[in-house]
Amino acid sequence: MQIITRVAELRARLADEHAIAFVPTMGNLHEGHLNLMRQAREHGDCVVASIFVNPLQFGPNEDFDQYPRTLIADCAKLHGLVDVVFAPAVNEMYPVQQTLFIELPPLAYELCGAARPGHFRGMATVVLKLLNIVQPQVALFGKKDYQQLHLVRQLTTQLNLPLCIIGGETVRAADGLALSSRNQYLTEAERSEAFFLSQTLQGMRQAIVQGARNFELLQQQAAQALASRGWVVDYVSVRNQSDLQPANGEQRNWVILAAARLGKTRLLDNVEVGLGE
Ligand code: PAF
Repeated sequence: MQIITRVAELRARLADEHAIAFVPTMGNLHEGHLNLMRQAREHGDCVVASIFVNPLQFGPNEDFDQYPRTLIADCAKLHGLVDVVFAPAVNEMYPVQQTLFIELPPLAYELCGAARPGHFRGMATVVLKLLNIVQPQVALFGKKDYQQLHLVRQLTTQLNLPLCIIGGETVRAADGLALSSRNQYLTEAERSEAFFLSQTLQGMRQAIVQGARNFELLQQQAAQALASRGWVVDYVSVRNQSDLQPANGEQRNWVILAAARLGKTRLLDNVEVGLGE
């Protein structure tokens, strides 16, 4: 496994590769990321992972400085799973001030985008840069960041990028908590409460499978249940899987998305509900 920090060196290393599977990350890797790396191997002869904490996707009062940077431990975990780790410094990715951004659709300012207004613009900009640098045939993103995955799919189709985007399933702890690099911010008491987010979404899923179609009511009840236990809810929202617009009864495949804070930690989760065609 090679660790490369410079764009030019990475391009030279990948010049003769024709089946590159790429997994972009911000490091602090957990089993969810490692699963994506294993899945990547099924799609490419050369698996590339990037580790880059992208300043553009953090708001002024967010956790950019605090975000865990664990490059050595991450590389140890990637050993044997990937061929190349691309770990650029900020000034390698942004050698000049980035004044050009991807303009995203209104969806990027809803759900997580409402609480984090510039987040998806920064995410899409770095993803496009990384895709241009690595030029993979396949790129993999976790479904835990469902809205991100949807926007990346839009980015690649609407800008005609010649690659295939694959979504990897969310990996969960035994109590249902979706694995995330931010889980480590939770105190012990918060960690024991954290299961309640996925449990709430599973309850909604079950209600929908059993025929409930008053999505507004389900959303309100879930938000209230979370708030009554001390969560600060950003949103609980049932959306169509196809376009992430608010769920309508004509569709049969929905996704229930939520973001809520426990203390200082903002947790995301989602559950797909597929009733088929
Ligand atoms: O999901 C992430 O870790 C980041 O948003 C990504 C896709 C690596 C872009 O910085």
